[in-house]
Amino acid sequence: MECIKPFFFDMTPAEKAELQDYYRVILDTGTLILGPFTKRFEDEFANYIGTRYAVSVNSGTSALEILCRIHGFKGKKIGVPTNTNFATVAAIIRAGGEPVYLDMSVETYCPTLEMVKAAHQHEKITGLLWVHIGGIITPDFDKIVEYCKTQHIILIEDAAHAHGSEFKQKKAGNFADGGAFSFFPTKVMTTYEGGMITTNDEDVMQLAKSYRNQGKGSADYGNYHTEFGNSWRMLEVSAALGLIQLRKLDHMLDKRQQVVEKVIPILKELKINYCDTSHMNRASNYKFIIRHESSRNLAEIKESFKQRGVILGGGVYEIPCHLQPVFKAIKIPNSGLATAEKYCPRQICLPITSGLSTQEEKQLQEAIYQVM
Ligand SMILES: Cc1ncc(COP(=O)(O)O)c(C=O)c1O
Repeated sequence: MECIKPFFFDMTPAEKAELQDYYRVILDTGTLILGPFTKRFEDEFANYIGTRYAVSVNSGTSALEILCRIHGFKGKKIGVPTNTNFATVAAIIRAGGEPVYLDMSVETYCPTLEMVKAAHQHEKITGLLWVHIGGIITPDFDKIVEYCKTQHIILIEDAAHAHGSEFKQKKAGNFADGGAFSFFPTKVMTTYEGGMITTNDEDVMQLAKSYRNQGKGSADYGNYHTEFGNSWRMLEVSAALGLIQLRKLDHMLDKRQQVVEKVIPILKELKINYCDTSHMNRASNYKFIIRHESSRNLAEIKESFKQRGVILGGGVYEIPCHLQPVFKAIKIPNSGLATAEKYCPRQICLPITSGLSTQEEKQLQEAIYQVM
């Protein structure tokens, strides 16, 4: 039996041929970095997100670290959800900040406005590294943006899961002081490896370009260094792939949404809770999170799906950051992180991709009925 996999590299034969043509140009000109594909990809990505600028980098991790450095997180307390990828918390630490964990709501798997307010009042956070988990922009996110603005809290969006996610006519990465995207192969669009910073601030854009290029200020080459940067540039071959993937992003998101809309009535019928995104204009559905309340463990559920030809990908995230051994030195807030501890391991992320055939969609629906 063919298995349904959680990831799909969505490239038609015509797009692969187009990419090979781009590679010929790159190889013939010998411009391997900081060339015309990088520039075009940045311009088109900014245009898509709706920001004035976009600066490409070699990973989502470096996009986050650059923003944390530019916004001066060093020595500051920074709120961050415990339910996130290692990279989010690591970026704060690498930039010299002190992470302050936020718990999550069981409805969204993200923190709430109340949690942000509590961290501000009790822990005195001056920055917030928010994560649109699974591509969900929470229903109170506009209020969180407003709160941060009035309280002078720097707000950076980790939009690694949220390409194209939109709420109140605004796309993830365009709500506050900067957005960080990842193009890691599992994401809704990819550049092999890669990342992007989005911003409306010209100074942030200039500094980001310097940080990604060993801190060389506005120069592409030479060895005069004004910032403590790194070698974080995107390759031209990656930008070329990014252009093709970006052009079809809306189409890939529409396909993912169609799969989700066929699954939702089944979940309602079976009375299974899921993270609702109906308040959004569009959700990336990077991960579609459903929640099981039973005593069955996740490994057993995953195995049952597998036996029915459905391979579930990882959750976002089954182990919250405060339980990761590498972060054991970070203080846990007095109020605890009980919801994340209870519900992170109870999530199931269905394999929603733009590559599912009608037959596979049926197979997935059938498996949900049988396993759940
Ligand atoms: C929420 C989140 N932030 C940041 C990253 C880091 O991105 P990258 O793997 O491109 O460095 C990831 C990665 O997968 C992620 O899921």
